[in-house]
Amino acid sequence: MAKKIILNKPSLQKARRRKPGRISYQCFNLDIPARVRDHLGGKFYYIHTYGCQANIRDEESMAGLLESAGMLRTSEVKAASVVILNTCAIRANAEDKLFGEVGSLKVLKRANKDMIIIISGCMVQQENALEKLEKSYPQVDIFFGTNSIHKTLELIDLHLDTRKRIVDVNSEDITIYEDVPVSRVEDFKAFVNISYGCDKFCTYCIVPYTRGKERSRKFQDIMNECEILVRSGYQEITLVGQNVNAYGLDLEDGERFSDLLEAVAKLGIPRLRFITSHPWNFDDDMIEVIAKYDNIMKAIHLPLQSGNNDILKIMGRRYSVESYLELVEKLRTKMPSIALTTDIIVGFPNESEAQFDETLKVVQQVGYSGAFTFIYSPRDGTPAARMQDDVTLEAKHLRFDRLKIVVDESVENYAATLVGQTKKVLVDGVSKKNDHKLSGYTEENKVVHFIGDETLVGTIVDVKITESRVYHLVGELING
Ligand code: SAH
Ligand code: SF4
Ligand code: F3S
Repeated sequence: MAKKIILNKPSLQKARRRKPGRISYQCFNLDIPARVRDHLGGKFYYIHTYGCQANIRDEESMAGLLESAGMLRTSEVKAASVVILNTCAIRANAEDKLFGEVGSLKVLKRANKDMIIIISGCMVQQENALEKLEKSYPQVDIFFGTNSIHKTLELIDLHLDTRKRIVDVNSEDITIYEDVPVSRVEDFKAFVNISYGCDKFCTYCIVPYTRGKERSRKFQDIMNECEILVRSGYQEITLVGQNVNAYGLDLEDGERFSDLLEAVAKLGIPRLRFITSHPWNFDDDMIEVIAKYDNIMKAIHLPLQSGNNDILKIMGRRYSVESYLELVEKLRTKMPSIALTTDIIVGFPNESEAQFDETLKVVQQVGYSGAFTFIYSPRDGTPAARMQDDVTLEAKHLRFDRLKIVVDESVENYAATLVGQTKKVLVDGVSKKNDHKLSGYTEENKVVHFIGDETLVGTIVDVKITESRVYHLVGELING
């Protein structure tokens, strides 16, 4: 008898298709399997999420489902009866870390045979990665993909019933499930999905394959989730989509991202953010709305990727350096103090030294308040991974180091401009080393450390910035 049950198998080829088919909206019906409640009620679950905000929000749905069945969260993997590793496939190093972690679970599983180990997320959406995981890690009981989050309890039930390995990775489903229970990771900051998937197909990127077709949630469903958060006292909402600007283009109602942003701002949440906005279709209506509402944070993540037009073209980014800089200019004209952050890839196939130097120039010109920099990592199934590449790994590392120096300089210069100013800071937590040391985020999304009482966590306070470093600011509380 087969040792595993395959409900669905991944296919990058199927995931690549963008059939015009209608998105199906379903209301999730919570049906807690008795076997899951009996076996796991009162026991602990552990989830480790890798990757982006979309994955964090998925974790919160899985947690919501497990808690509906009576389970409790733990940060101690040893104490857990259900262990979920929620994976990311964006670069090889994200995958390598996962291999290390899943390997180390073997010993735990030997000591606790009833432990159920699950691997979910973007990695298993790729057939090669799934095959490798399946072969190398017999300790894993269930693999499910980004389209099966709502099935967490159902799949655990099937495993408990059959004691077999379960595989459920669907590459084609374009259903949106509303009302899946949620248990949020934080009490005062929340991520709200506005769309799933991505249709941009930047040539280096695996996301359109692991997350599938771009599909918007209905306007009213997003508003309902945000209203609940406002009523529950949340201080900050971040609207999440791989490309938020494309919100609504697939809906019949005609609402666009600028309409949604304005409607959520009007709900009165103290802080509203969004991620990620693509520099390509960042329209004037969006700029108007961001400028108009004080509770929309004047901090925008605007991934540049490269400062050379030929590389941008081969990356499939659909903007030029000139149009990117024009957008930066427009934003700064309307909102002079706006903070801009970015993502940059170095060592894209055949990037020349001269092309790389142009990236350095744009970084210096824009003056970012923060930047994530990455060495290009070939992703199986993407067009860039099939390109010949004449750049050595050593050259890529050297460029990465040079970029880091220029980025740090830009970030340091930006941070220095905040010294002497009083900033509103949402207090995030207490330093692990010192109970009286708090940390929080300014409206510009810069981390500040300052002395204050633990009871301030989750509130917005005024902090005078006294010192700046590259990665954080130091300040003094003034209304505590
Ligand atoms: N949807 C977001 C990006 C999500 S991925 C956007 O378009 O901005 C986050 C970042 O990872 C990207 O902006 C890119 O800089 C980086 N990235 C994506 N694929 C990569 C790859 N194959 N190698 C290196 N970095 C990559
Ligand atoms: Fe990837 Fe490009 Fe989509 Fe961002 S917009 S998720 S980089 S394909
Ligand atoms: Fe990673 Fe998937 Fe997000 S690949 S970056 S977790 S969409």
